[in-house]
Amino acid sequence: MDNLEAANDDGPGELAGLREEFRGFRIWREITGDRVRYVARSQFPGLNPHTVVTADAAELRAALEPAREAALVPFSTTTASIARIYDYLLGGKDNYAADRAAAGRILETFPEAGQIAHANRAFQAQAIRHAARQGIGQFLDLGAGLPASPSTHEAARRLCPAARVVYVDCDELVLAHGRALLAVDEQIAVVGGDIRDPGGLLADPALTGLIDLAEPVCVLLVSVLHFMSADEADAVVAAFRDWMAPGSCLVISAGTSTGTDPQVITALQEAYRGTALVTGRSEAAIAAWFGGLILARPGLVDVWAWRPDSLPRPARPPSTRARFLGGVAHKPMRSVPWQP
Ligand SMILES: C[S@@+](CC[C@H](N)C(=O)[O-])C[C@H]1O[C@@H](n2cnc3c(N)ncnc32)[C@H](O)[C@@H]1O
Repeated sequence: MDNLEAANDDGPGELAGLREEFRGFRIWREITGDRVRYVARSQFPGLNPHTVVTADAAELRAALEPAREAALVPFSTTTASIARIYDYLLGGKDNYAADRAAAGRILETFPEAGQIAHANRAFQAQAIRHAARQGIGQFLDLGAGLPASPSTHEAARRLCPAARVVYVDCDELVLAHGRALLAVDEQIAVVGGDIRDPGGLLADPALTGLIDLAEPVCVLLVSVLHFMSADEADAVVAAFRDWMAPGSCLVISAGTSTGTDPQVITALQEAYRGTALVTGRSEAAIAAWFGGLILARPGLVDVWAWRPDSLPRPARPPSTRARFLGGVAHKPMRSVPWQP
């Protein structure tokens, strides 16, 4: 009969070390007669590998390491990057010829891309202020991008001066700029990682040192989920939505195929070829990311139209061939059973 964990050898020490190193995985040992094997199973949807079984602890480490390292995008001037294309569309200066060429291809088919990028930034700042007004004092910005004003901590601290912020990105250039420009005090951290590895990220000491799991948090997934497959995006949202404490706030914006000219989606996929996937989700699929949460008014709308009740809606921008949706939702506090 199988035994889970040996008591009298050096295995338990090894096991404790593995658990400490790879906190996104549930790891145990199985003993059958004189055979011992390690089993690791991911605890979060989207965290790969799902399961590893091996008798050798070193082999287990090697198999799980990629999940932790999870492919940071190395700095290269010859390959366009998501962050630098976006920087160019916003009128920034942190971009190279390859990025400008890719952005140029986008603008040929979708000349309003810069306007939409600005509207997306405005949505993000509004959403952060909305969360801060609800008393949320910690922010997790996933796919944070190159520093742009107002940054997440600047927007949050206008209402909550003690706000704690963790910026996450997978692009080495973004991380270098973020560490230089954003991490201005001890209450701000910049973490390198792939958000498709929620288990690895959520175990990162820089994150756990600042974000209190028991407290509501504002999780931002702004203009990042369309750069992964539909399954990956669904898994990422599910993992962070489940992880965040009741009272937390989820902020999402993403391009949608609903109301978008299919030619624009094809042009975006061409422009990002070699850099990232581009996935256009239907409005209903994006709305499903907020499942189980309470959508704040005005609901899931075009980013330029998202304004809390207290502010006037901006004028509708000139017609665009692509739609970009934003929404903010709250995780309900645990429900109290109704008593007659
Ligand atoms: C278009 S920018 C958006 C920046 C910012 N959130 C905003 O909306 O202004 C997307 C960012 O997400 C990052 N990113 C893309 N895929 C990612 C992933 N799987 N894990 C972490 N960061 C990712 C890119 O490097 C880029 O910096």
